[in-house]
Amino acid sequence: MAIPEHLISEDEDDDAEEEPVTPPKVNLTRHRGSISAEAFGVWNKREAFTPPVYPKTPEQTAELTSVLSRSFLFHTLDMKCMQVVLLAMKGPLVLEAGHRLIQEGHSGEHLYVVTEGSFDCIKVINGAEMVVKVCVKGDLFGELALLYNCPRAASVQSREASVVWELDRGTFNNIVMEAVQRKRDQCSEVLRKVAIFANMPRTELERIIDVLKEETYPQGTVIIRQGDLGEHFYVIHEGEVMASKQTPDHPEPTTFVHKAGDYFGELALLRDAPRAASVVATSPEVRLLSMDRASFRRLMGPAEEFLQLHAARYG
Ligand code: CMP
Ligand code: CMP
Repeated sequence: MAIPEHLISEDEDDDAEEEPVTPPKVNLTRHRGSISAEAFGVWNKREAFTPPVYPKTPEQTAELTSVLSRSFLFHTLDMKCMQVVLLAMKGPLVLEAGHRLIQEGHSGEHLYVVTEGSFDCIKVINGAEMVVKVCVKGDLFGELALLYNCPRAASVQSREASVVWELDRGTFNNIVMEAVQRKRDQCSEVLRKVAIFANMPRTELERIIDVLKEETYPQGTVIIRQGDLGEHFYVIHEGEVMASKQTPDHPEPTTFVHKAGDYFGELALLRDAPRAASVVATSPEVRLLSMDRASFRRLMGPAEEFLQLHAARYG
């Protein structure tokens, strides 16, 4: 999905030109209904922001915490910011089957988290509406318009009676974007050392970083098993893994060592084929950045030719 350069927010640049401001002494005491965002590390925004507060039952809070902490956008938030986001989530919004919550091309003010039911993400392709993804319990959607300040990239419609919670753009910009930016800075350093990402334009690279999740494995963990379905592509941040491939003709496995700065798990996603080798963590700790299949399809198009050509390295 190409997001035109001119649609990307210039806010950060504007902020950069402002005089540095001394952080105010903040009172972390919470007043119901008005939690100042100043208390959560965004003191240098032009206007103080007061996130909305929607009280929740302990069960609702626990469910949303579990969903949000699994999401690539929220799992890097510290506890205080997570609390603000949890309180700001509005719901439960109960929708009937066939309810179109988001229309492709419209502007967007919310992202949504699914706690019950399922949703079709639909795009107009060659004049016809096509389902490009199904979101289920625990997924979120509607984040792209907020992240990149662009029109909705797809329509989203409930497949059955479903329940969602929504988060407003103000809370997203003031609380979540700061963590997103921190992750972009940290991951850029890592990815610029990986050949496929080294010369990628910054906005393209940031879109990739935004969907990456960090995973850590101890030595001996089987990360990928030959013959399985492939759901993720991996970049090695730290450590080493060994891939081994066995075939009936060659019972002695062919091996390949992937080190920090390399990637693996691309073949199953590129070829829509089962995993071609098993991959095991061979250093005391392996830190990976992983990308799910749908994001790989959406974002790695420009790198596909490189990945296909480099498959020759496996012999
Ligand atoms: P947004 O563009 O804000 O609104 C539509 C949402 O559909 C989008 O965010 C994503 O969360 C979701 N979506 C799922 N699959 C796709 C896709 N292939 N392209 C664009 N959006 C998608
Ligand atoms: P994939 O098939 O998705 O999952 C296993 C990964 O191991 C594969 O992608 C490659 O990234 C990697 N690999 C390393 N050596 C080999 C090999 N000899 N044959 C196939 N894949 C290999």
